[in-house]
Amino acid sequence: MQKPINVGVVGAGYWGPNLVRNFRALPDCRLRVICDIKEERLKHLKSLYPEIPGETKFEALMADRELHAIVIATSVRHHFPMAKAALSAGKHVLIEKPMATSSEHCEELIEIAQQKGVTLMVGHTFLYSAPIRKIKEIVDSGEIGELRYISARRLNLGLFQKDINVAWDLAPHDIAIILHIVGELPYSINCRGGAHLTKGIEDVTSMHLQFSKERTAVIHSSWHDPRKVREMTIVGSKRMIVYDDIATQEKIKIFDVRVERPPHYDTFAEFHYAYHYGDIYSPYIKQDEPLRAECQHFLDCIRHGKVPLTSGTNGLEVVRILEASTLSIKQNGAPIDLPDGRLSSGSHSHPPIPMPEIELPKPPIRGGRKKRSTLNPFPRSITG
Ligand SMILES: NC(=O)c1ccc[n+]([C@@H]2O[C@H](COP(=O)([O-])OP(=O)(O)OC[C@H]3O[C@@H](n4cnc5c(N)ncnc54)[C@H](O)[C@@H]3O)[C@@H](O)[C@H]2O)c1
Repeated sequence: MQKPINVGVVGAGYWGPNLVRNFRALPDCRLRVICDIKEERLKHLKSLYPEIPGETKFEALMADRELHAIVIATSVRHHFPMAKAALSAGKHVLIEKPMATSSEHCEELIEIAQQKGVTLMVGHTFLYSAPIRKIKEIVDSGEIGELRYISARRLNLGLFQKDINVAWDLAPHDIAIILHIVGELPYSINCRGGAHLTKGIEDVTSMHLQFSKERTAVIHSSWHDPRKVREMTIVGSKRMIVYDDIATQEKIKIFDVRVERPPHYDTFAEFHYAYHYGDIYSPYIKQDEPLRAECQHFLDCIRHGKVPLTSGTNGLEVVRILEASTLSIKQNGAPIDLPDGRLSSGSHSHPPIPMPEIELPKPPIRGGRKKRSTLNPFPRSITG
């Protein structure tokens, strides 16, 4: 039998308890401690899980040599100092999104993780969800033709944050999904926003990402909307996909619709766009909790020394785009160029992650994924 990986979750506010519930339920893992500075949050979790000790001091976790991994679910400003301390202490780290408040901090964390030979992963949870995995398969199969553009809308009323704008709060999910689908970084970003309640903290933003071959993506993020909306449209030259994460069934719909320009015409009277309207179908997707798959993947990466699908480098790429969006807002929406359009850690070429099975209506679509090199050897204390 394998020795369990001892995990500590830091931050037991809104999101932390979901991580606690999942790590507690996973095999080959022992949830050793829950840490929060607020006693009342620890008391609440104690009422749910009396067997798990609570701790108010983060430093106590750092001093615990038997604690192998730390999961950070505090607000963003704490991510860097906590992750730095944990990585420096030789612990594996899963940080919630966004990875940190600056790309410099992300780079420093990646460097420390490499020096220490430990796993560094970021909680871009949607990349572990069945609908996104399915969309990625469909796009990669060529079924929708050439990818043209993606639009994403993530809207609701609140929760207003005090230290980050809505793009830093909500757009990390959409950026991570879009980079995963497109398979490369945008070369230019521009963003505009409105700060209607708190000066300097935009509660509505519209971000545009420009990719090679005229491909574009638009991300609309808002805390200032009467409805909860979680939608994405992926437009290809042959077909289009609509993904509605709020829908309880038929989260993905594939539209056999397209529009084409005539290849040639002599007079303006002859010019007509050709519209095609065909069927709409919805592939069956068995729903499972993406966070469970994410937590399991973190443990697998620790145990087998694999680079996570949502590695520190992916976290850095998302933060670079967020930084560019902030700069663009300050310059009234001016385009900000990114130096290099490569997707450095290549989440698109990550080997398949063992997931809860997704039932597909059609034969499996071709994959073409490559094996990756190992980065994070499992520490001797666990392998024996
Ligand atoms: N992956 C997802 O889908 C998802 C969803 C929601 C939130 N998040 C992320 O999770 C993180 C936490 O968000 P939240 O909404 O739960 O925030 P929150 O404010 O509700 O909770 C943060 C908790 O951290 C605690 N905390 C603060 N400083 C601490 C310290 N020094 N030591 C120990 N505990 C400390 C606070 O007391 C609080 O209970 C954020 O990074 C957020 O972006 C991710």
